[in-house]
Amino acid sequence: MTKNKQTLTITIDGKKIAVEEGITILKAAEKAGIYIPHLCAYKDLIPHGSCRVCSVRVNGRIQASCVQTVSEGMVIESDTAELLEYRRMIVDMLFVEGNHFCMFCEKSGHCELQAMAYRFGITAPQFPYLNPNRDIDLSHPDVFLDHNRCILCGRCVRTSQELDHKNVFQFVNRGHKKRLEVNAKGLAETDLNVTDSVVNACPVGALMKKRVGYEVPIGNRPFDHASIGSEIEKTEGERK
Ligand code: FES
Repeated sequence: MTKNKQTLTITIDGKKIAVEEGITILKAAEKAGIYIPHLCAYKDLIPHGSCRVCSVRVNGRIQASCVQTVSEGMVIESDTAELLEYRRMIVDMLFVEGNHFCMFCEKSGHCELQAMAYRFGITAPQFPYLNPNRDIDLSHPDVFLDHNRCILCGRCVRTSQELDHKNVFQFVNRGHKKRLEVNAKGLAETDLNVTDSVVNACPVGALMKKRVGYEVPIGNRPFDHASIGSEIEKTEGERK
């Protein structure tokens, strides 16, 4: 016998919302037309809680909204100067930790990291560039992996496992030595196929299809006219 889900009431940024029990704060906010910035959360993958961009204050304590489920009477703050600055710093650090040259990257205009920087008003990083020396795996006939652009969000690891039912990617090492690896000598030796869901899961330009770069002209790219998250905020506007 399946138990009916209860309806709970939570408050996000002063707005009372009726939500289904068991849902995460991030999903509840999206359903209510409230955009909470996030990077490692993706579609219906099991949330990972690693990037912390989605951090909110829950009853006074900072928590990752993509992994925290709702409970009755929860009071959530998301749109505060403190949290915006916190998220801005995380995005800033992601930029300096890798090699992100947006003007030469074919993901430009589609890139969630770039779009988030625009949304947060980041024009130049506040931390020094680390300029790491990283390689590019071009071995696969249809897909390449540029480690310079990888932000270690783990979407590829989880998409390959959970949606493609393969196990193409993994993380190795810990802390600042953590890096993404493929479960073979190179991408060409894995069972990755260009039609796999994982090929579209990367939020940045790290995992890309070959031979389709710059397909959409500047001016028509998804983030040329609308900021990231605006599609979620728009749903609220339509309900009013
Ligand atoms: Fe929640 Fe990354 S989106 S921790």
